[in-house]
Amino acid sequence: MKNKHLLGLVDWNAEDIQTVIDTAFTFREILERPIKKVPTLQGKTVVNLFFEDSTRTRISFELAQKRLSADMINFSAGISSIKKGETFKDTAQNIEAMKIDGIVMRHPTPGAPLHLTKFVDAVVINAGDGTHEHPTQGLLDMTSLQEKFGKIQGLKIGIIGDITHSRVAKSNIIGLTKLGAEVTLCGPPTLMPVNVEKLGVTVNYNVDEVLLWANAVNILRIQRERQGVSYIPSIREYRANWGITRERLDRIGKEITIMHPGPMNRGVEIDSDVADSNNAIILNQVLNGVAVRMAILYLLLGDKPKEED
Ligand code: CP
Repeated sequence: MKNKHLLGLVDWNAEDIQTVIDTAFTFREILERPIKKVPTLQGKTVVNLFFEDSTRTRISFELAQKRLSADMINFSAGISSIKKGETFKDTAQNIEAMKIDGIVMRHPTPGAPLHLTKFVDAVVINAGDGTHEHPTQGLLDMTSLQEKFGKIQGLKIGIIGDITHSRVAKSNIIGLTKLGAEVTLCGPPTLMPVNVEKLGVTVNYNVDEVLLWANAVNILRIQRERQGVSYIPSIREYRANWGITRERLDRIGKEITIMHPGPMNRGVEIDSDVADSNNAIILNQVLNGVAVRMAILYLLLGDKPKEED
């Protein structure tokens, strides 16, 4: 790997992104075994530093660490000495003083994982930083697409929803375009970043046209916790205009692969009978998340083979 840390896919080249995906497929095989554990990271210690809520990412990283036999510690900001006034820097340096090898961090502030690298020598893995990036989600989404279609090059991917506040959208856009997919963004104009086309994507505000064009769509929820004001008139209007409903898919009459990073708001951006349909690969994404996080931990923390003299 060219990079020591995984802060965002923007820093990673296409070859290294593809290496993670290919390595994830080898770890998927381990996850199918009766005993799902290998000694790859025995003796390594990883701290999961979560300053924001998570279900999938946190459990997925924990499982990945356990499957690789790493020692892992969970840290929750809500029950730490940060409550007593300790700074982010002091917290990080005190944790590292206990001799750890890696830190997986989720934080509401964009750039917090980069900031952390200034204080610690440990490998830092970004588990989502505010509206910036969610690189392991981008990697697991690409792994799921490669599993479904056999390749990423040339695929047509629609990303539908709140693009402005979505770190998942950003990591997907960056990763997919680096690997040669075509990406079209769709959602309310108030939730579309200005000049986003500069990232090499197309914008189309007509959901039906995007569904007709795409091989797969990644559906995002409205990130209300990251919005200071309301960007949409009502949930009902959002569902009518942008929601992926059974009625809309039936009207289009085309098979399309449905993705969602979770957590889902059923009945808003996606209907239950779409989320639970045979065309949805949402739970495959979750399974691939464990394999991708095993791949990242192995590639960034595993002992490198010694070079011959
Ligand atoms: N996709 C995702 O990041 O989910 P969590 O917030 O539950 O980790």
